[in-house]
Amino acid sequence: MVKVSAPGKVYLIGEHAVVYGQPAIIASVNKRTYVSIEPSKKITYRDLGWPDISHTWSVKELFGITEKILNLWDTCNNKQNFSELFNFIKKNGYEGYRASVVGIAMKRLGVKEGFSIIIDSQIPVGAGLGSSASRAVSITKAIAQFFKKKISLERINEIAYLQEKVIHGIPSGGDNSTCCFGGLVWFKKTQPSNEIRFLKKEIPYKLENFVFVYTGEPKKTTGEMVQLVRELKEEYRAERIKKIGEMSYEMLESLKRKDFKRMKEIINQTQKNLTELGASTKEIDKVVKAVQKVSGAAKLCGAGGGGIVLCYHEEKKKLIDLIRNIGYDPWEMDLAVEGVRIERDDN
Ligand code: MEV
Repeated sequence: MVKVSAPGKVYLIGEHAVVYGQPAIIASVNKRTYVSIEPSKKITYRDLGWPDISHTWSVKELFGITEKILNLWDTCNNKQNFSELFNFIKKNGYEGYRASVVGIAMKRLGVKEGFSIIIDSQIPVGAGLGSSASRAVSITKAIAQFFKKKISLERINEIAYLQEKVIHGIPSGGDNSTCCFGGLVWFKKTQPSNEIRFLKKEIPYKLENFVFVYTGEPKKTTGEMVQLVRELKEEYRAERIKKIGEMSYEMLESLKRKDFKRMKEIINQTQKNLTELGASTKEIDKVVKAVQKVSGAAKLCGAGGGGIVLCYHEEKKKLIDLIRNIGYDPWEMDLAVEGVRIERDDN
């Protein structure tokens, strides 16, 4: 048996803007996806998050589904509108998505044999914690490890980006990069290759006093939220995207200086811009308002439309009490943890 895990992630700043080439600061989190692989003739797939769902595919069937999904992605990409792909995946109960994530890894790694794969994730879907990216990275590494294929982190990340495209259309690549490499990451989508800088030297201390609130599963997927922002009037959107980008640079400087007072202002301004982009909800607004009232800072994380809220206050206990008082369960997570890793290999 081979067992691999990869962390989830949170955006300290820069979600949505990162899709348009602005920088983001993203931290891996200590909620992980565990992927186990054992020998099997056919490909059998189980995800413990959905105990009622299991799939069995022959290799030929799996490659057929993968081909179909990738062709649909191409068609949608030509139109710059992914609704057809998203609708197909939803209608098909996400089987096509699950199959193509496995199929893409197999094709890229040159694997043509069956295996049994079991996914056990601590990361809720749609929370803004990178559940799909964490799955993509850990599935790819687990298949490579099981079939004794040598693979670099860079290559895992490339494959995971392709897998992410199936479910998000054209994501920035920030999620999979952070789940793959781990740590605190400065990410900027650029050509010909993305800027990925690890901030360990610039920010060598442990990030503390961040607490998270889960406001519930969003009604829309990340891909759909990104599409909504894309459909806003260009001038209106561009102005807000630029502001968030500028604040990412400022956030980096304030983190380096340990200027948490300025950092709080930046977080709150970012939330204002994300709200104007349509990514907030009533529940998120309620949490943000309450945290700001006690001189803290809060913002949504990831695509929004629900999911988690990042909250910061110099007095963590005060923050935790406040979150409980407004009826939520405070989540404490370690930030900037290790990326993808092998948990077990007795192959
Ligand atoms: C999702 O975690 C972050 C977004 O910026 C989308 C992306 O970067 O692909 C909303």
